[in-house]
Amino acid sequence: MISKLSKSSVREAIILAFVECRTKTLAIFEGMDRMTFCAQPHPDFSPVGWHLGHIAYTEALWLLERSAGLPCLFPQYRQLFAADGLPKAKRVELPELTEIRYYLDTVRAKVLDSLKVADVEQNERLWRFLIQHESQHHEIISMVLELVKLSHSHKKLLRTDRASQPAPNNLEDTIQIPAGEFEQGNNSIDALDNESPAHKVYLDTYWIDRYPVTCGQYLTFIEAGGYQDRRWWSNAGWHWLQTEQVTQPLYWDNDRTWDNRPVCGVSWYEAEAYSRFVGKRLPTEAEWEKAATQNVEAKTVIENCNCDRLVGKTTAVNAYPDGQSIYGLSDTLGNVWEWTDSWFAGYEGFQSYPYVGYSQVYFDQKHRVLKGGSWATRPWVLRPSFRNWYYPSVRQIFAGFRCAADDK
Ligand code: AVJ
Ligand code: FE
Repeated sequence: MISKLSKSSVREAIILAFVECRTKTLAIFEGMDRMTFCAQPHPDFSPVGWHLGHIAYTEALWLLERSAGLPCLFPQYRQLFAADGLPKAKRVELPELTEIRYYLDTVRAKVLDSLKVADVEQNERLWRFLIQHESQHHEIISMVLELVKLSHSHKKLLRTDRASQPAPNNLEDTIQIPAGEFEQGNNSIDALDNESPAHKVYLDTYWIDRYPVTCGQYLTFIEAGGYQDRRWWSNAGWHWLQTEQVTQPLYWDNDRTWDNRPVCGVSWYEAEAYSRFVGKRLPTEAEWEKAATQNVEAKTVIENCNCDRLVGKTTAVNAYPDGQSIYGLSDTLGNVWEWTDSWFAGYEGFQSYPYVGYSQVYFDQKHRVLKGGSWATRPWVLRPSFRNWYYPSVRQIFAGFRCAADDK
């Protein structure tokens, strides 16, 4: 009796989560013009319409073909929407939005049918994975839309709301984290393969900034000629800078009302250079994760951060004081992703799920870990254990950083 009850409540919870996730995915596309739907403002990222088709493709592949044993419903989309199907440049020739909507809706109807008879307990991790997967593509869609806006506005972000919150008292605030063990990672059912197994990590005492670096702070680096000064850059960073010739973060505005908002749209190399400029360094992933520990329910934290496109842009640091970590760090979840010093690698005992290409192929000492989520991240992706990863040269994502230092 009890197990039957809990089975049906797991099923209900999954259905609700699927619906909630999809509603917001579709909302972004409402009233979108065809140009935007197919635009590819940067060669490393596929058009937003492609991501929508890929969401349907992935759901069908795992839940209908692999789990329920059904034949492929739309074989004509296999090449176009599989992650390894076509080169990104070939993904601009897309079916109409209504066709992709039909694809999504047809797959979803079958998925809900199969959910009625499926063994939910057996397969819960896979369903949870698909929610996490769609949510991440949702954020990439947000990002590509910002890139489209940038390309229309001659490198200047369009903004309607010029209001800015007051600055917290002391932006230079830095926090001492006492030496000791903490548990890194996450074994829960909705965690991704790369978060497991959870394990104890001992860290010596270190310091970490209360806030992510703001545009106002970063301006001192720009005005001091930071982008022209070889001293602050690593060899790889300087080489990157010579190739890219950038002089400010990607999502930047000279309007001083941006001063208290975190820097957004920097590569790992820029984060590294700024940290050296102020005599600090980037935190390791473990340092970041320990300092971001929350002692209240995750739900409460999420309600107290800038996420889920609710504001639609970055907010001033400390705009959500009730979302602080137990050590007093502000803005760890939401607002901007934060670069860490760590390469993306598997924890000891790592096992791929549901496929090697999800995480493991990126354990190549070429991708850096980002933590915490951004203003566009869906709430159920926001947790200190979540690991995002990109090449250090990438600056199109909603990424900033905070600095750390050794205890002297
Ligand atoms: C974790 C955002 C780097 O976009 O490659 C989506 C997420 N993986 N589909 C990516 C992902 C497969 C992933 N990131
Ligand atoms: Fe994907």
